[in-house]
Amino acid sequence: MKFLITAGPTREPLDPVRYLTNRSSGRMGYALAGAARHEGHEVLLISGPTTLDVPPGVDFIQVETAQQMYDAVHDLIKGVDVAILCAAVADYRPVACAEQKIKKSADKLVLELERTPDILGSMRTVFGFDGKLIGFAAETNDVIAYGRDKLVRKQCDMIVANDVSKPGIGFDSRENEVILIFPDKEVHLEQDTKERIAMQIIEHATVIEA
Ligand code: PMT
Repeated sequence: MKFLITAGPTREPLDPVRYLTNRSSGRMGYALAGAARHEGHEVLLISGPTTLDVPPGVDFIQVETAQQMYDAVHDLIKGVDVAILCAAVADYRPVACAEQKIKKSADKLVLELERTPDILGSMRTVFGFDGKLIGFAAETNDVIAYGRDKLVRKQCDMIVANDVSKPGIGFDSRENEVILIFPDKEVHLEQDTKERIAMQIIEHATVIEA
């Protein structure tokens, strides 16, 4: 099967030297790419900036902003069987990127932000993707309810929900603990390394009925 996986954070520029971003290290997405490749699948990893090595045998596209990740997924989704969107895409970006470094002057600086394009939400509607669609949900409360809502609204086959308020898992840690949310059931994967969690996610992804 052909997998497309997104990973890492995006960076949304404010001026030539500053940007808005988040704490995603990319580890969860890179572990998924490595696990899918290990199982013999063709894998394309589209990643925001990280310090990680690309798993051997994985095709790789580096992006920086949410718009670039959207464009890359849009351009490369044809022929993909399974899409797993693990990236922590910025939900907002500065309305304008200053051409020169913003100088400090007033005591307060107000930033105007606008929504970034919703990649997961565009998969079925704009990109016409009809393969298996797996989204992530990073929540701090009501994890299953919000994850299930995303499953329906974004027309996914599975949501991987993680409680990112728990110390030691989620953003920028080596381990994760997730709930796989399907239309008819939930499967809890106990805290483990992201590599072992990734192997289990790939196993579940490959048996989803088309
Ligand atoms: O990178 P690590 O340090 O290993 O951390 C892993 C992780 C915590 C980043 C990962 O497990 C995770 O939860 N990824 C999703 C993070 C996120 O942004 O969740 P969300 O609930 O805001 O987004 C929901 C889904 O929509 C995700 O599939 C996301 O990729 C997608 N999305 C979000 C915004 C946007 N503009 N486009 C999108 O496609």
